[in-house]
Amino acid sequence: MSLTRLEEVRRAFLADLDAAGPDAAAIEEVRVRYAGRRSGVLQELTAVLRTLPNEEKREYGRALNELKKLVESKLRAAKERASSSGRAASRPVIDVTLPGHVPPRGAEHPVHLVRRRIESIFLRMGYSVEDGPEIEDDWHNFEALNLPPDHPARDDQDTFYLPGSSLLRTHTSPVQARVMEKHAPPIRIVVPGRVYRRDSDLRHSPMFHQLEGLVVDEGITFGHLKATLEAFLKELFHGVEVRFRPSYFPFTEPSAEVDITCIFCGGKGCGVCSRSGWIEILGSGMVDPRVFEKIGIDADRYTGFAFGLGLDRVAMLLYGIPDLRLMFSGDQRVTRQFA
Ligand code: PHE
Repeated sequence: MSLTRLEEVRRAFLADLDAAGPDAAAIEEVRVRYAGRRSGVLQELTAVLRTLPNEEKREYGRALNELKKLVESKLRAAKERASSSGRAASRPVIDVTLPGHVPPRGAEHPVHLVRRRIESIFLRMGYSVEDGPEIEDDWHNFEALNLPPDHPARDDQDTFYLPGSSLLRTHTSPVQARVMEKHAPPIRIVVPGRVYRRDSDLRHSPMFHQLEGLVVDEGITFGHLKATLEAFLKELFHGVEVRFRPSYFPFTEPSAEVDITCIFCGGKGCGVCSRSGWIEILGSGMVDPRVFEKIGIDADRYTGFAFGLGLDRVAMLLYGIPDLRLMFSGDQRVTRQFA
């Protein structure tokens, strides 16, 4: 009789524990119900022991002990399972359906945009893109370009000198010399790059960008220079007029400064063009034969033309940026507008 009661409790316990699943609170309830010290079912069954006749005590006692052991071990196992699945539940859950973080996207710098536009125009004309060092020597930056040490034009280019005999290039023209030293004509190159001068105001920054052009071959004339620069400027600044003014550079002869009609007023005259209707855009000229001689190119056989323009200035004009220093401020309110 009492043994059947033990068997009933065993089944009920296993069923209740099963129903509690991995829920720690439900398992605890089961524990209290069966193994609780005060009024647990096992407590009750132990109390029965004393009331039994002696001949039943032994068998009942053994069965009860077994049941207690079973309850104990099953509860322990259930709790372990509950705590390990609890840890799993507290791990962060990855919800793959949530929208992702969108990383902030940078923008191309206006100078870079202009550089690529200009490069693409010249690449289509059959030029290649070259570069050279920003730390230069006196020979390439000045001497080879027909600027001997005592030449007054050196004063125009407030040079940053470095310890030793190096300097920061004041223009991209030294790359003309470097390319001519290495490659025999025909040469058709453009050279974008950083240049440095001791100068800083609304229109000048100690670091700025130029793009150099150089063409050397047999039979190159001023007509080629003119046609090339006209075609280039009309493509870059749609619909402008182009004019050539005589000028002077030590490494070109003859030299010309090139203007375009003001892209803001169309040539009528405004604040940007100082009421003149024209904006100066680049310097150019026929390569001075003395430069060829210094570098060792046959000046009787070859002629060439060169030009240089400020990329920053072009960017300011094309995008209407009023202060050159804004472009190198790193201010995202400026650069974001080019995204
Ligand atoms: N290097 C000149 C400057 O920085 C520009 C230039 C380049 C002029 C090539 C003529 C030919 O002012």
